[in-house]
Amino acid sequence: MFYLPLFHRLQGVPCLVVGGGQTALRKLRWLLRAGAQVRLIAPAVDADIQRLRDAGELVIERTAFYPEAITPDLRLVISATNAPQVSEAVFARAIRLGVLVNCVDRTELCTVIFPAIIDRFPILVAVSSMGQSPTLSRSVRGWIEVRLPQNLGRLAELAGRLRQQVKASLSSVDARKGFWDSVFASSAATKAMQGDLEGAITDAQQQLEQTEQSGQILLVGAGPGDPDLITLRGLRAIQSADVLMYDKLVHPALLEYARRDVELVDVGKQGPREEAGATGWGSNHGDGKAARPTGTKMQEVINQRMVGEALKGKKVVRLKGGDPFIFGRGGEELLEAAAHGFQVQVIPGITAGMAAASYAGIPLTHRHMSQSVRFLTGHRVAQAQNLEWAEWARDDQTLVIYMGLVSLANIQAHLLAAGRAETTPAVLIENASLPEQREIFAPLGELHQAVVSAGISGPSIIIVGEVVDIPRMGNAKA
Ligand SMILES: C[S@@+](CC[C@H](N)C(=O)[O-])C[C@H]1O[C@@H](n2cnc3c(N)ncnc32)[C@H](O)[C@@H]1O
Repeated sequence: MFYLPLFHRLQGVPCLVVGGGQTALRKLRWLLRAGAQVRLIAPAVDADIQRLRDAGELVIERTAFYPEAITPDLRLVISATNAPQVSEAVFARAIRLGVLVNCVDRTELCTVIFPAIIDRFPILVAVSSMGQSPTLSRSVRGWIEVRLPQNLGRLAELAGRLRQQVKASLSSVDARKGFWDSVFASSAATKAMQGDLEGAITDAQQQLEQTEQSGQILLVGAGPGDPDLITLRGLRAIQSADVLMYDKLVHPALLEYARRDVELVDVGKQGPREEAGATGWGSNHGDGKAARPTGTKMQEVINQRMVGEALKGKKVVRLKGGDPFIFGRGGEELLEAAAHGFQVQVIPGITAGMAAASYAGIPLTHRHMSQSVRFLTGHRVAQAQNLEWAEWARDDQTLVIYMGLVSLANIQAHLLAAGRAETTPAVLIENASLPEQREIFAPLGELHQAVVSAGISGPSIIIVGEVVDIPRMGNAKA
């Protein structure tokens, strides 16, 4: 059975509820919210229903159901009773008079069904399983609930206030759509949702002026791998992009949120073995076969494309694995954009080092074991001079090493030579936050050998420090 979702105007419209318990109360509340003129029929009613009646919100008829209670002027009848024969009688009479009918928990006795509702008035989301599984609908509602900011409705107010002005300024439908998408992903949206409507309008009007003049560049953190770990604002930015430039370590599921007409640009860079994504996800990621420019040359190509598209007036979202400003060359891209006069919006992401720690149950600091954390890159450690190994070998801190797989033997040797104990707990976490995550725990003196034996080749984080022992003491995992 397929039910067509429609939003029904019930303002001032007569409706009947049969039953006086909690289930009836839940349905009754929605009818009153919609402004319906409600009569309720039941021999006894819940105290909350009585209170609503005392407040003049509905009329109660204290009697058992009788078929003539359903009259042709009614638009909708809801039967919320435990008595199956009552629902059957309600249904029979309503069908005969052509009145819409809903008998709770009796899908076969419904011409309309209630969805699970997410209420961010005036935004309402209705979820239905077509009567197959209300429990599943409620779960889906829960999944969507957490994605929708509580004050989402205030965005509608912002849009309503500026609607005419935007229409007058931007003649094309696409331009207006792009503008609103970018407003909903910006500080104007945040201000509106925080209740500062005037501030939001000012910000949005500035954006409108900019949109008339030029494009935009956003640097967005996609999080470490698991697509659920992106921020809500990051997601909204993806949805608003004209051009979406993404790295190899961005999960392909995130690209699905982009508009259908988005220009997708894969700028996955070549790098050390782990960065080449030998265990990457999806065919667009880490194939490493195409003859692309690499390293600095590749970064120049990315910068040029990013700025070039924005200069054409487009909204460019540069989607980067983890956080854009942690070993992500986000700073270089920011400077390049600034050099061309763009004020870049940066949306942070969960960096791989923090996600790896959480997913392995390792607190990066601990009052008695580690008072500081260092985020290091192991990239080109082998050739680097003047690295502060003595500092890094101090034992009251945690090291979080990115891109350290290829140089692991060197890193290990340098740390030991600088005085870090061979027995220091250490771990390499590959593909953190993804289903294929692997953790190789070993004392620092044996870590490289353990990693080689395990055949690790995917993106990896190495954590060194006493805190690495904590998962064995407790049982926490993200
Ligand atoms: C160029 S850096 C980018 C870091 C990113 N900006 C961040 O904040 O996570 C790439 C390195 O991050 C680490 N990395 C990224 N995603 C990872 C993951 N899911 N699991 C383990 N390490 C990861 C690896 O060391 C990889 O070589």
